[in-house]
Amino acid sequence: MILSENNVFLLRNEEMSYLFRVTEHGNLEHLHFGAPVRIADADALAVKYGTGWGSTGGPEGEEFPMYLPLEWSGLGRGDYRESPLEMAGEMPTGFKFSYSKIHEGIVPMECSLPQAKGNAETLEIVCSNVGGLTLHLYYTLFDTALCRRAVLVNNTDRDVVIRKMMSSMLDMQGTYEMTTFNGSWIAEMQSYKAPVGMSGIVNESTTGFSSALHNPGFMLSEPGASEDHGVVYGFNLIYSGNHYARVQRANEGINRIVQGISPVSFEWKLAPAEAFETPEAVMTYSSDGYNGMSCRMHRFVNEHIVPERWRGKDRPVLYNDWEGCMFDFNEPKLMSLAKKAKKLGCELFVLDDGWFGARDNDKAGLGDYSVNRKKLPHGLSGLQAKLEKLGLAFGLWFEPEAVNPDSDLFRAHPDWAISEENGVVVLGRNELLLDLGKQEVRDYIVENVSRCIDEGKVSYVKWDMNRHSTALGASAHRCILGLYECLQRIFGPRPDVLLESCSSGGNRFDLGMLCYSPQIWSSDDTDAVERCRIQYNLSYLYPQSTIGAHVSEAPHSQTLRNTPLSTRGNISFFGLLGYEFDLDNLSPAETDEITNQIAFYKQFRHTFQFGQLRRLRAENGISMQVADDDACLVGLFQGLVPAAPGYERIFPQGLMPERPYHVESRKQWLNAALFGGLLRFVLPIKVKPDGILVRTAGKQYRMQDAVQACTASGSALMSGLSLNARFMGTGYDPSMRMQGDFGSNIYVITEEK
Ligand code: DGJ
Repeated sequence: MILSENNVFLLRNEEMSYLFRVTEHGNLEHLHFGAPVRIADADALAVKYGTGWGSTGGPEGEEFPMYLPLEWSGLGRGDYRESPLEMAGEMPTGFKFSYSKIHEGIVPMECSLPQAKGNAETLEIVCSNVGGLTLHLYYTLFDTALCRRAVLVNNTDRDVVIRKMMSSMLDMQGTYEMTTFNGSWIAEMQSYKAPVGMSGIVNESTTGFSSALHNPGFMLSEPGASEDHGVVYGFNLIYSGNHYARVQRANEGINRIVQGISPVSFEWKLAPAEAFETPEAVMTYSSDGYNGMSCRMHRFVNEHIVPERWRGKDRPVLYNDWEGCMFDFNEPKLMSLAKKAKKLGCELFVLDDGWFGARDNDKAGLGDYSVNRKKLPHGLSGLQAKLEKLGLAFGLWFEPEAVNPDSDLFRAHPDWAISEENGVVVLGRNELLLDLGKQEVRDYIVENVSRCIDEGKVSYVKWDMNRHSTALGASAHRCILGLYECLQRIFGPRPDVLLESCSSGGNRFDLGMLCYSPQIWSSDDTDAVERCRIQYNLSYLYPQSTIGAHVSEAPHSQTLRNTPLSTRGNISFFGLLGYEFDLDNLSPAETDEITNQIAFYKQFRHTFQFGQLRRLRAENGISMQVADDDACLVGLFQGLVPAAPGYERIFPQGLMPERPYHVESRKQWLNAALFGGLLRFVLPIKVKPDGILVRTAGKQYRMQDAVQACTASGSALMSGLSLNARFMGTGYDPSMRMQGDFGSNIYVITEEK
């Protein structure tokens, strides 16, 4: 609900409210963002600045906005904190309130930027400045979050140039810690938490894209907040390009939070009567800790960001040929993989890089979307027909935004690629970016990708993008607008095609991409243990239904870690399950195990993909649960196993205290070779621990790990379910958990009827 009374504005949903007012001098004074309050609480919540703080700064006769918590500010009106808007030249950017308007629903944007959709109300605040500019601030209130954006209209008779324009600015009172998610290729989403001080914390990407270096989402929390208690705010931006956020504390205990497009190299000319629209900034609040905030963000993404067709819709279990084949495949090899994938239970076969042009490695052919007939003599339609016969849907990889200089496309249109600084050509993964600011480039992409999708009856597209560029400068934003236009033109008319976006893994994991692609490939780091941490940290801001997470080979190609197959599956269950290695090398025991994994995942697929995720307390390693009305599934992912382990427990949450529940751990198998030399104590014959007999036995047979089952009240389980003892070499009994390093299990908790 949005209320307005005497220029006080209240935006309130069930769990939070946002309150501000217009001061007698036309400033927008921020009053409150947090627990639900009333419009009549404005005076109680306002800061009391009495007769001022001593130094002056505003235009004559005005109060000094320098010390006021504000909703928007600018240069030239006495506020020395960070300005959300900067123009080239002398143009003043201080604004005063003119009028307000409440709209039913969202107010659609004019440009191609995506925005949150669904049931909402929007408050529009219109301000003007002495220079002839009009500023529209939009506040769209959803049931779980608030979106803010700003639009600047040039009402002068000459061109003006924007150097920096934020989507939102807000001054919040209090003491906060800021958590950002940073990293690099194969090391996405590492979390960093620091107190917000007077120099501020900046979270910014300047690589042309939202980037794995600094995810646009961040959190502010009150000191002492935990997963389940305390005040936590979540922020994000519906944008895939260069982004910027800064939180800076001022002496008076007010924190200025700005969010928007990065000002680095930004420049936008606005002709008379033209408007510039910023992307939407998203914010939400919870007093129930990080889990409370995540729950609201997840609902917001699932209900208002991902394309309508895919909201709450189960995603297929897929097989992707990339890590198994790379560029080296042909139709018989693909069909051999497809047959095995189908037998295991996969539903979708994805042909990754290498299917078109001269793309036998990553040095050539990118941009030439004609099928490589040597590899696929029957074309896309021929392959699709065979897959369809097997009962598999067909998915296809593209990387439409880039081009190899060694390609027909580049030879024909060298001017379509973005040339780098001072004419020096800098390649990233042997690629140049195409200039998506150009209509003819966008048309080429739309025509070619659409043609291939239609020709191959493709039901899933992996849209990759494998380079950064700091050289895009002012055209970076135009390219991002161009990208959104392409996505809309291709997938708008093809809503049933499931789009998974990817950028060297999670280099573009953001809400902008999620408006078109309901899922994103989380990382090229497919080592299960590492990716568990990546998934865990993604879960602060993004629901598990958006996280592509595949099982890959062990020992892993990047870490050489030999993670048990059971754990590789269990971790992927907490995202969108897929398999990505050469299935022709699977042993009978592995085949059995994967078949069981897929069947288990399918049994609980909706809960895994759309149940409410919570990060749980764990005594060793990581624990997460997903829960809905059908089941509560708790994953416990252990780290290194101590020789003398303490008693261990899991701590499910959200159960009904008085109700009885049945708990059962997933039945899973162990490689007999895990026991090495110990086998000599149990086998009647003498065997060498690393000999052929043990190795062959390991391939053919697996030992079953203990299944722990019990019944208990919700209250008891939430207090900590005591787990079966772990094997520690002092003896054996069949109820023992036999997992070694990085062992894991899933505990299925269902209400007893
Ligand atoms: C990078 C992606 O992240 C990988 O999954 C794969 O699609 C390769 N590109 C293909 O070149």
